[in-house]
Amino acid sequence: EKGHFRHFMQKEIFEQPTVVAQTLRSYIRRVDQSVALPQFDFDLSQIRRVTIVACGTSYYAGLVAKYWFEQFARLPVDIDVASEFRYRDPVLEPGGLALFISQSGETADTLAALRHCKEHGQTIAVVVNVPTSSMAREADLLLPTHAGPEIGVASTKAFTCQLAVLAALAAHLAVKRGRMSREEERDLVDQLVETPAALNAALAHDDEIAAMAHLIAPARDVLYLGRGQDYPLALEGALKLKEISYIHAEGYASGEMKHGPIALIDEAVPVIVLAPSGPLFEKTVSNMQEVRARGGKVVLISDAEGLAEAGEGCLATIEMPKVHPLIAPLVYAVPVQLLAYHVACVKGTDVDQPRNLAKSVTVE
Ligand code: F6R
Repeated sequence: EKGHFRHFMQKEIFEQPTVVAQTLRSYIRRVDQSVALPQFDFDLSQIRRVTIVACGTSYYAGLVAKYWFEQFARLPVDIDVASEFRYRDPVLEPGGLALFISQSGETADTLAALRHCKEHGQTIAVVVNVPTSSMAREADLLLPTHAGPEIGVASTKAFTCQLAVLAALAAHLAVKRGRMSREEERDLVDQLVETPAALNAALAHDDEIAAMAHLIAPARDVLYLGRGQDYPLALEGALKLKEISYIHAEGYASGEMKHGPIALIDEAVPVIVLAPSGPLFEKTVSNMQEVRARGGKVVLISDAEGLAEAGEGCLATIEMPKVHPLIAPLVYAVPVQLLAYHVACVKGTDVDQPRNLAKSVTVE
């Protein structure tokens, strides 16, 4: 039931603090403040490479995980969308780990890639939301998300729950591989426990984003920019917007804009920039200046420090709480989802049942 919400998608966006907390609870051991995975007989400290495969929004969760596994656990990652992965005859070394991410656990392309990896001697780990699904049954290591049923066709709460599991997995791998001390682990667990509060802080901008949606709804094209682990969020923002509002949108790595898409910029193309403050923030500021110099209108989503550093001149800004890099993508997912949702409402499209889309894609 939708309760007092207008759409399932809206309800599911607002459920995120609860379901992310629920998901994290099964990956955190409060007694000793450590990250814990389900029991299985595979030594994660021995893996040399992980292959991640998924589709759509679940693929973007995997892209975020690539940054995390490499940065925190120094583990090399190969990642692809499932429909490409299978047919490119990927090199799979014996003893490797393959990780599949799926809300439904039934997506045909992902399931076929899983079976391909199994035939080629890979240990199969899955992050899935439906515990009775094919992928859950065929996995060696099942890492469930506890998002509850997701009704809206556009994935929202399943995505942030996938990120929560992947953050815990990244931390676990980092500890196992000797890249994270017990003290850092405890500190990280403290921060993970604060995630629901940070998600609530992000959700508190709902009215502001609803007002901003009127500025975006008339656009024909929208660009989303992000850098590093926020680049997949730019891709996710663009996907959400096109899925439910039918506005053409593209996500780009901030630094790539000057290599082509900058040609599109004029007063009619809003540019949504996702950029928490940090060492590379000044590079993002110069990317925004390039946009503004061409009459482009920037919506900056950052924390207080980032907004101060960026100064005046944005069409609009949204202030996110300042959080650990393993939590930031979960928090930044919220304004991106809300913006797509409110733009779709302004346009009057069918938010929960967008045209041409099905919740579970069981054909190749
Ligand atoms: C986007 C969306 C799709 C799914 C994709 C994979 O909002 O919902 O892109 O993410 O079809 O589905 P699952 O995660 O069920 O494998």
